[in-house]
Amino acid sequence: MENNVRPESMARINNFELANKFIDEKVAEIRKQVGDKKVLLALSGGVDSSVVAALLIKAIGKQLVCVHVNHGLMRKGESEQVIEIFGKEMDANLVYIDATDRYLNKLAGVADPETKRKIIGAEFIRIFEEEARKLEGIAFLAQGTIYPDILESIKAAEGKKAVKSHHNVGGLPEDLQFELVEPIKLLFKDEVRVVGEALGLPHAMVYRQPFPGPGLGVRCLGAITRDRLEALREADAILRDEFDKNGLAEKVWQYFIAIPNIKSVGVKDESRYEGWPAIIRAVNTKDAMTATIEEIPYPVLHKVTARITAEVEGINRVLYDLTPKPTGTIEWE
Ligand code: XMP
Repeated sequence: MENNVRPESMARINNFELANKFIDEKVAEIRKQVGDKKVLLALSGGVDSSVVAALLIKAIGKQLVCVHVNHGLMRKGESEQVIEIFGKEMDANLVYIDATDRYLNKLAGVADPETKRKIIGAEFIRIFEEEARKLEGIAFLAQGTIYPDILESIKAAEGKKAVKSHHNVGGLPEDLQFELVEPIKLLFKDEVRVVGEALGLPHAMVYRQPFPGPGLGVRCLGAITRDRLEALREADAILRDEFDKNGLAEKVWQYFIAIPNIKSVGVKDESRYEGWPAIIRAVNTKDAMTATIEEIPYPVLHKVTARITAEVEGINRVLYDLTPKPTGTIEWE
């Protein structure tokens, strides 16, 4: 646990000079830790794993094998974008695995959020182990763990009122066969972005809103079903589209849809229409430990509501969550 604690003397990385110093230190550390062995990276395409990828490419080049697992819980178009940017534009050593059925079968009927996280995390590692066995000489697993993940998991381990165990820390199976490389585990999110820009990653990628490891799995509340997951993916894409069009994407730290496992009575085409409610969440934060509610203009909320109820099968209401963190967490699970 020792090196999981951020030293009090560590300056907040808020400029390129500090970021470059951090990068130089990490590059040297990674080279020392890895030697001439190969590293497998879980490349989700989010800010954290993208920054880790860039750091590792800088440190060890082709010794890095990036694996993108589509767990079926990605946002609309996201896996395609990973293939486009990393596979094609950045010419990384990228392995793509479509594990949708495998995940959804394992998760069928599982309603408890922590159990869902554990299953998703454990499957991730198992898939990497399978990949590693196919590749030669993989000794390390790189992860985009960041400091808020560690802090909440430490609380959980100490038996304090755990908020939630983040899957990339708490869900590791005990038979893990890799040594971990976690170069950004002492950084807060705002620092990760500065480091990403210093590494030359595109602004849009570095400032993309964060997406949790368990993906839509913790937004399709309770036991996941394919139809509700699909409705969630479509509704979320509409929200993101409207935020882009209305200049909110850069202003709001994280915004998404969650869909609970309840139906209410509604009316569509003059008939009774039972459907799920889509819940809009749009929050601002610096480090994800607390969060405030961004004021979304009513016309945007009306537009999102009209589009989701008209375009998405199975949804008949749209709700707007006004709860800051605390008392709500950012995610609903
Ligand atoms: P909460 O819901 O704890 O979220 O207020 C804080 C930030 O963490 C993200 N989050 C996760 N990220 N694995 C992750 O990698 C997880 O299990 C997980 N749960 C929440 C959440 O999206 C928010 O940005």
